Amino acid sequence: MIQLELVKKVFPNTTVPAVDEVTFSINKGNICVFVGPSGCGKTTILRMINRLVEPTSGNIYVDGENILDVDSDELRRRIGYVIQQIGLLPHRTIEQNVGLVPRLLKWSEAKIKQRVMELLEIVGLDPVETAWKYPYQLSGGQMQRAGVARALAADPPIMLMDEPFGAVDPIVRGRLQDEFLRLQQEVKKTICFVTHDINEALKMGDYIVVMNMGKLVQKGTPMEVLSNPANKFVKDMIGDDRGVKLLDLTRAESLMTAVTEGSAAARDCSCFLDAIQPVKMALEVMMKNDSDVVGICRGKEVVGTLSWTEIKKHIHKISGDQE
Ligand SMILES: Nc1ncnc2c1ncn2[C@@H]1O[C@H](COP(=O)(O)OP(=O)(O)OP(=O)(O)O)[C@@H](O)[C@H]1O
Ligand SMILES: [Mg+2]
Repeated sequence: MIQLELVKKVFPNTTVPAVDEVTFSINKGNICVFVGPSGCGKTTILRMINRLVEPTSGNIYVDGENILDVDSDELRRRIGYVIQQIGLLPHRTIEQNVGLVPRLLKWSEAKIKQRVMELLEIVGLDPVETAWKYPYQLSGGQMQRAGVARALAADPPIMLMDEPFGAVDPIVRGRLQDEFLRLQQEVKKTICFVTHDINEALKMGDYIVVMNMGKLVQKGTPMEVLSNPANKFVKDMIGDDRGVKLLDLTRAESLMTAVTEGSAAARDCSCFLDAIQPVKMALEVMMKNDSDVVGICRGKEVVGTLSWTEIKKHIHKISGDQE
């Protein structure tokens, strides 16, 4: 668990705080995403958590301990850090880069080798093809995967990830996000994830912290932030398609009209969707099948129906748009 209490940072010779009395906590095993425009203080927050930057005032606790009471090397061993510019050492192979921390921890060479190979596999890099290469021989996306592998190397319970998928095109980025979320299901790390992409924040975060000019503007689940933006700044950042974004986070089962299996309404459906899929997917299915109602299933049983009219009503309601 990570807690920040009124944390403030004013860099020397500056007047405006880079981070201004920010308070939040992240529970064990959760991903908290910091999102906001360039210069709003995201990287500074991460660097204060692993003591690369000292706060001007306020307190930071990791697993209940004030980080000032923990030896900084010992602290950093618990915290994997994926830095914004990837930061692979150019004159070291990928094997050496990923094995950096285990080597510092004086693991045996055999154990390091085994861990590196395992990690490359986990992040989707072919170990045999990649381990001997130098960073310049990899694509941007491959370098980012190697950066994530390096941060995971010593299996730290906490990860700080500063725009870890920033340097790749939207398609590769989407794939890296999916892979990472799948990995997180298994490893359950406590993660601070930084991005300036609101869509990435909504997709990756159990919680989101919206920042602007060093200040915390809003914190909440993606659903809370989307349904109730705290002010115009948050609303503008979400964009005009707030309704559609909400449909991506809303499960079909939460909007459906319940029906019983075998009823006329259930029999009338020509296309179907699993109850836990997002409402946005229901629209997809309807369009593909040229139908304006979709049957909602749990397992093989039809448990509800969801119509285009019901979805439209919901969009109007959440957009605060009175019909
Ligand atoms: N070492 C430093 N000395 C002085 N000012 C700094 C220092 N590091 C950061 N700043 C300033 O603090 C503010 C916050 O910087 P920070 O790097 O945390 O922003 P960010 O949200 O990560 O931005 P980006 O999205 O561009 O990475 C900026 O105004 C920056 O210029
Ligand atoms: Mg930054």
